[in-house]
Amino acid sequence: MQEKKVVNIGLFGLGTVGTGVVKLIEGHQEDLVKQTGNEIKIEKILIQDPDKDRNYKVDSNLLTTDPWEIIHNKDIDVIIEVMGNVYPTYEYLMAALEQRKHVVTANKDLMALHGAELLQQASKYQCDLYYEASVAGGIPIIRALVEGFASDRITKLVGIVNGTTNYILSKMSEEGLSFEEALRQAQELGYAESDPTSDVEGFDAARKMAILSNLSFHMDVNIQDVKVKGITQVTKEDIELGKQLGYVIKLLGIAQLKDEQLAISVQPTMINKNHPLAKVNGVFNAIYVYGEAVGETMFYGSGAGQLPTATAVVSDLVTVVKQMNLGVNGRGVVAPYRPKLMMSDELMTSRYFIRLKVSDRVGVLARITENFAEEMVSIEEVLQLRLHEEKKAQLIIITHETSKAQLSRLLPKLESLEVVDAINSVYPVEGDEVE
Ligand SMILES: NC(=O)c1ccc[n+]([C@@H]2O[C@H](COP(=O)([O-])OP(=O)(O)OC[C@H]3O[C@@H](n4cnc5c(N)ncnc54)[C@H](OP(=O)(O)O)[C@@H]3O)[C@@H](O)[C@H]2O)c1
Repeated sequence: MQEKKVVNIGLFGLGTVGTGVVKLIEGHQEDLVKQTGNEIKIEKILIQDPDKDRNYKVDSNLLTTDPWEIIHNKDIDVIIEVMGNVYPTYEYLMAALEQRKHVVTANKDLMALHGAELLQQASKYQCDLYYEASVAGGIPIIRALVEGFASDRITKLVGIVNGTTNYILSKMSEEGLSFEEALRQAQELGYAESDPTSDVEGFDAARKMAILSNLSFHMDVNIQDVKVKGITQVTKEDIELGKQLGYVIKLLGIAQLKDEQLAISVQPTMINKNHPLAKVNGVFNAIYVYGEAVGETMFYGSGAGQLPTATAVVSDLVTVVKQMNLGVNGRGVVAPYRPKLMMSDELMTSRYFIRLKVSDRVGVLARITENFAEEMVSIEEVLQLRLHEEKKAQLIIITHETSKAQLSRLLPKLESLEVVDAINSVYPVEGDEVE
């Protein structure tokens, strides 16, 4: 009987995800052997603190604090990078690829910033570089986009790709908490970090949308191409008023192709309460994909966590090992092949929710709608509510499809009207009109 070849792994990081990777490789060894024909062996593990008390026991001889011991080890075939951070990780992985080691990573910060260079390096040295776990943890969305949609043309992606902000907005909506209260709860439960900036300002979601857009639209997209607005300004009032009109507020990443022009944004958005994405609550993630041929599809699941994320990492590893057996590593990467053209504000359209504080007297509505008419912004729905303050009212207007350019001309005009005290909030509106 032919002896099983051993594939040796160098694991960079033994934290949340790294420990999950060890558990899966040890626990599912028999399945991995059946699927690949190879025994998978963890040869060395890079950590930074050898004295750390670890809740999952590994052989201490496997641990090292020297990355070069792994990078220059001729017996190691694949590096699994789950240590995080952009630097020095980038230098380590560039060097590992040069040493002809295949790489699997869960690092979205690194892939959003240096993905193109790393993929080029992988191609140059005929190595694989896979990064399924970097977006939406346990949801196999990258594989779906690259393989499942290979024969289609994706026209739009709408995603809830950050579990922390989805948890906060869900709590604000379900329990009437303020942003600050919901954030505190998320931190107590370990869903938000002590410095939550990257999540609540939308940067984490923007990195993931850049990665997904690159793969969906075959353009060399980077993080600067994503327009970002976080959720810190979302108020209980907006959530309640949205509900009254049949909408839920979600931090949506939207990437859309129109006339070969691409727009990518991450911003709090009102979505029709009957849309499947409106029902994605807590820390869950979901990505809604529109394909020209296939129509609409949705991918839903855990966006993070030890085992969901490790599953994506180890599945990438299985692909690498199968390709090693076929001798086809490094041939699967499709570099962006369409010229990048970002969408003009004239072409970028959405419906909008606009909340104004206005004077409560005769003729105010006419003064306001006059300005909408001048900018050719058509109104779908108006709701007027009394405010406790004397002679003041709240006006909520939902527009029909309006271009960003029209909106940019309209808002300053409204702001300058003597009858308008303030523009309290403006949100794009996604999904069908509420019946
Ligand atoms: N956690 C999730 O649910 C999740 C989901 C999707 C993607 N990811 C991504 O997966 C990666 C890992 O996340 P994690 O949550 O597992 O992180 P973590 O718990 O903080 O673990 C990081 C590990 O890397 C080691 N490490 C960090 N910097 C190092 C350095 N300079 N040299 C040597 N070792 C170093 C640490 O060593 P010590 O143990 O000695 O401190 C630790 O074992 C990140 O890129 C993250 O964005 C995580």
